[in-house]
Amino acid sequence: MKFYIETYGCQMNIYDSEIICSILLKSGFIKTSTLKKADIILLNTCAIREKPEKKIFNRLMKIRCLKQTNNQIKIGLVGCLATHYNKQTLEKLNFIDLIVGPDSYKKIPKMIKNLKKEQTKKEIDVSLANQEKYTKIIPIGVRTSISAFLSIMRGCDNMCTFCIVPFSRGREKSRNPNSILKECKILYKKGYKEIILLGQNVDSYFFKQIKFLNLLELIAITVPLMRIRFLTSYPSNISKNLLEVVKKHSNICKHFHIPLQSGSTRILSLMRRKYTVEEFLLIIKMIKQIIPDCSISSDLMTGFCTETQEDHRETIRIMNIIKFNFSYMFKYSSRQGTYAYRKLKDDVPNILKLRRLNEILMLQKSHSFYRLKENIGKIQNVLIEGISKKDDNYYYGRNYKNDIIVFPKTKSKIGSYNRVKILNSTFTTLIGERILSEI
Ligand code: 5AD
Ligand code: SF4
Repeated sequence: MKFYIETYGCQMNIYDSEIICSILLKSGFIKTSTLKKADIILLNTCAIREKPEKKIFNRLMKIRCLKQTNNQIKIGLVGCLATHYNKQTLEKLNFIDLIVGPDSYKKIPKMIKNLKKEQTKKEIDVSLANQEKYTKIIPIGVRTSISAFLSIMRGCDNMCTFCIVPFSRGREKSRNPNSILKECKILYKKGYKEIILLGQNVDSYFFKQIKFLNLLELIAITVPLMRIRFLTSYPSNISKNLLEVVKKHSNICKHFHIPLQSGSTRILSLMRRKYTVEEFLLIIKMIKQIIPDCSISSDLMTGFCTETQEDHRETIRIMNIIKFNFSYMFKYSSRQGTYAYRKLKDDVPNILKLRRLNEILMLQKSHSFYRLKENIGKIQNVLIEGISKKDDNYYYGRNYKNDIIVFPKTKSKIGSYNRVKILNSTFTTLIGERILSEI
């Protein structure tokens, strides 16, 4: 039986699709990248905002048509929408045969077999677990040929009032460090050069006295020739000790992804974020003091419930102070099941949400350019990820801060570190030239 999988949403979902592939391949299924050749079509979904949800819904309607020509095809909705949709919505989607939440992927082969044997008409498992379920599964597939994702924890206990994650992915569950270290070694042996540690809140990782900073140090020592990135960090979890670990190990990237969400303390409190704007600024100050050349990125949202023009101006003011290296920016969308959906009024008109979003998008563009230009004249270690899409004669790669750099192709191989002098910058990319020998 052939399966086809399509992935929506964050890096965690990409990683989860790799887990699903690994589970299905082990059970004798064959992967196809052609939709029409598949016996089973899986959509690994995202519920975090309205926009991706609509996109997935439209896609499902298109895929539904395939059933008219071949009624043997089985369609599966897996991931966050499976746990997010209520019973009534799931019942309306009567053409979907398989509905599987983020903690039940191991059951997919059995569920498909039941469907094929016509033991059931529909297979549903949307239960959420208290423990990590995929400890022994080594995912297949990759982010790029040199860089792999590795999930260290799942779920979230923070309960920000706008966010569906604690409901769609459940409570926080940290993975056993032994299995994480084993996976790191396997990735290294397979030839990967970079690991990106994933978690909704990586820095609240905790497993039998092992904190995130201990785990990070263990990984840095276990695979010293690999580059290590991690995301996402919750602002108030960043400690001086964690920063010292990041500083100490040259293979740990000097980059923090720390969502601010809003520059107004009033809005942060309505969002039930656990910091004020002043505290956030102090965290940034501490990071820059300990690791001066550190890159800081963020998530920002416009138009959260009751956000006034004054609150929005505060976000702009804070952005101007910090000048993030880059940010992911969204307009708020109310998500069924969250505290904000139930108790707060989604009262900012869409047009205002969009206008404010456009303003911060423009501002961030100028800040990203400002931060990129800070690299000009410096010599940096660049890990080559591939050949530039715009020009075959150029390589592209990243420095330790996660900036993208292109430089004229040399004899160096993809996956090697190169010393590159940064000569110039566009709005998104640094341009450099390789100097000295490969390192
Ligand atoms: N509306 C808009 N953006 C949201 N995010 C999370 N929930 C919502 C929502 N309901 C954004 C936050 C978070 C990122 C992953 O997605 O900025 O940090
Ligand atoms: Fe959602 Fe807040 Fe948890 Fe991030 S920290 S996943 S925004 S609940």
